[in-house]
Amino acid sequence: MRDKIVAGNWKMNNDLAQTEDLLAKIKSLRSEKAGVRVIVAPSFTNLWHAFESLRETSVEVAAQNMNENENGAFTGEVSASMLTSVGVKSVILGHSERRAIYKETDELLAKKVDAAFNNDMEVIFCCGEELEDRKSENHYEVVKSQLEKGLFHISSDAWKNVVIAYEPVWAIGTGETASPEQAQEMHAFIRKTISEKFGAEIANDVSILYGGSVKPANAEEIFAKEDVDGGLIGGASLKAEDFLAIVAAI
Ligand code: G3H
Repeated sequence: MRDKIVAGNWKMNNDLAQTEDLLAKIKSLRSEKAGVRVIVAPSFTNLWHAFESLRETSVEVAAQNMNENENGAFTGEVSASMLTSVGVKSVILGHSERRAIYKETDELLAKKVDAAFNNDMEVIFCCGEELEDRKSENHYEVVKSQLEKGLFHISSDAWKNVVIAYEPVWAIGTGETASPEQAQEMHAFIRKTISEKFGAEIANDVSILYGGSVKPANAEEIFAKEDVDGGLIGGASLKAEDFLAIVAAI
């Protein structure tokens, strides 16, 4: 049975004091829910603090990005082994902001995926189409291509360390959400695409998260869909009450 997961991507928000405050609120307000993984992804500078602060809880810590190289002369970059050394076991790769603003290509993402697996990390692999792709009914092709180029070179065994996040770019931070039906359609398509290449067992075991303007008011109906196994939450993860309401909705 695949995991239910709610992950909060804090993006470039929260300094140390704000991180301490948000983590304290999450810890005090949260009630354990069996079978649901809860993950927070603070900025690099606050990962160690988050790991230490959450040590006695089941809340996990993920990074928002990492470099594809093991180490060396890459000024300003952070490697997988640096992340694991501060307790981080998961990394978000291929977020649309990384693809669009920092020009991360599918080929680069494939290398980052390999670096994560070489360091026994879990990958939360993001995919999703832009508005133009959806308008031209090209959205399935775009998502399929992102998966094939960034992820489908991995071994069958590596899939146990993969989570997919489907994030239609037009729904990120816009207040506009994919309808539960649109999310379900794409999640089912992603599962079918994985199944065709790696088999039904692997496809059925992969958690596929939806991301894009999820909030307490819409989480329940999105999470109710068969192939939606949770969410990757941006803006609403910055308020403990909202984030935990979303966790409770799964
Ligand atoms: O990683 C999270 C997504 O980009 C969604 O962000 O919930 O602010 O729309 P959002």
